[in-house]
Formats: sequence, structure tokens, C-alpha cells
Amino acid sequence: MLASMEFQDVVRRRRMVRDYTDELVDPAVVDRAVRNATRAPSAGFTQGWGFLVLDARADVDRFWAVTAEDTAHPDRWLAGMMRAPVVVVPCSSKAAYLGRYAETDKERADQRWPVPFWHMDAAMASLLVLQTAVDAGLGGCFFGVPGDRRDDLREAFGIPPEFTPAGAVTLGHPAPRGESDGAQGSPSRRSRKPVDEVVHHGRWGVPTRS
Ligand SMILES: Cc1cc2nc3c(=O)[nH]c(=O)nc-3n(C[C@H](O)[C@H](O)[C@H](O)COP(=O)(O)O)c2cc1C
Repeated sequence: MLASMEFQDVVRRRRMVRDYTDELVDPAVVDRAVRNATRAPSAGFTQGWGFLVLDARADVDRFWAVTAEDTAHPDRWLAGMMRAPVVVVPCSSKAAYLGRYAETDKERADQRWPVPFWHMDAAMASLLVLQTAVDAGLGGCFFGVPGDRRDDLREAFGIPPEFTPAGAVTLGHPAPRGESDGAQGSPSRRSRKPVDEVVHHGRWGVPTRS
């Protein structure tokens, strides 16, 4: 039985982890994370996503070799991230949405999407991967894959051309905080905005109920 915690604790504890121990993760947690990802909402239930799971060291190393600047001389961020034993690459297919919205119960109109739903859906799924990791006592980090590395990434792992890597997620055991010299990320330089500043009640500018 996999460990799990209260939902509010998962939400509260989730943070992007950029430094890992080299301890392997239970494959059952990885399976659960990607299965949970497929429970995410998707526009028109298109599910125009695909998840590349890399959990063999050689594959993870290849991921970094094709996406990172200089794996031989990693900076703090890269050194910590490369230790993660698992990388999941959530991909989105715009073509799937073009096809889905051409079906009889949807109007086909490329411009119908006020925002790119294919990336939104991959993002919603990615959050479920992160939350599942936290729920199981692991850490994860969603990060961007540089645009000029996408083709190399597709090539290295056979990702079809219609799929765009929306980013990538490292999963692993977080290195102990304090002892770690891993990269801290933006929250070390910025604070969380107060709820009153970002939630507007009934009318923009009216703060939320306290
Ligand atoms: C779309 C997106 C892209 C991100 N890209 C990166 C990235 O390239 N590198 C990184 O270290 N963190 C990345 N992050 C993580 C954010 O920096 C992080 O979520 C934010 O600073 C808030 O911190 P927290 O998630 O730990 O609460 C990204 C997050 C999102 C949602």
C-alpha cells in the first residue's frame, strides 16, 4: 500500500524540488503519478497528451545530454536535477484538438480556443504528477525544455512530430533541506502574493472573504 496524506497537506507541502538524493523511487509511485495524470480534465475530453516516462539511468542521462547546456560541468541547478532518478516529459498535441473539435459535436475553428487548450491540459496533468509525488513523500519539479532542444528530444526518444514537450518533471527523493546546496528557485527571491492581492470577490479590487 502506497503512503498517502491529507489533500490539504499535499497542496501545502508541494514545492518544486531541484536537488535529489540518488535513491531510486518505487516504480509503483511513478505508475500512479502518470495514471493520475490521465485523470486530469481536458478540453472536449480530447486527452491530446502523451507522457514519456524515463526511469532507467541511461535514459535519464540521455534526456539531460540532449536538453541541457553542459552536463560535464553542471551548475547547481543542473547538478541537483540530474540526480533525480525519474524524468517524465508531458507532451501536448495541438493536432489532436484540431481533430477533436472538427467532430460533429464541436465546431471546427482553429481560432475558437481563447488560449492553447492543448498546453493547458498538459499542465493540469503535470500538476497531478507533482501532487502524486508529494502524496507519496517524494519531490518533483516541473521545468521548461528549451525550444531549440525540442527536436533533439523528439529524436532521442521517438516522440512523434505532432507532440510538443510542454516541459519536463523530475521525480525523486528530495535532498535534505539545509544540507543541500541545490538551486533554490524563485521562491527564495520572491514571496507568495497575499491572497487579497490576487483574489477578487464579486468585483475586481474587492478582496476575498478572510
Ligand atoms: C510553466 C512553468 C515553468 C517552470 N519552469 C521552471 C524552470 O525552467 N526551472 C525551474 O527551476 N523551475 C521552473 N518552474 C518552477 C517555478 O519556478 C516554481 O513553481 C515557482 O517558483 C513557485 O515555487 P514552488 O512551485 O516551489 O511553490 C516552472 C513552473 C512552471 C509552472
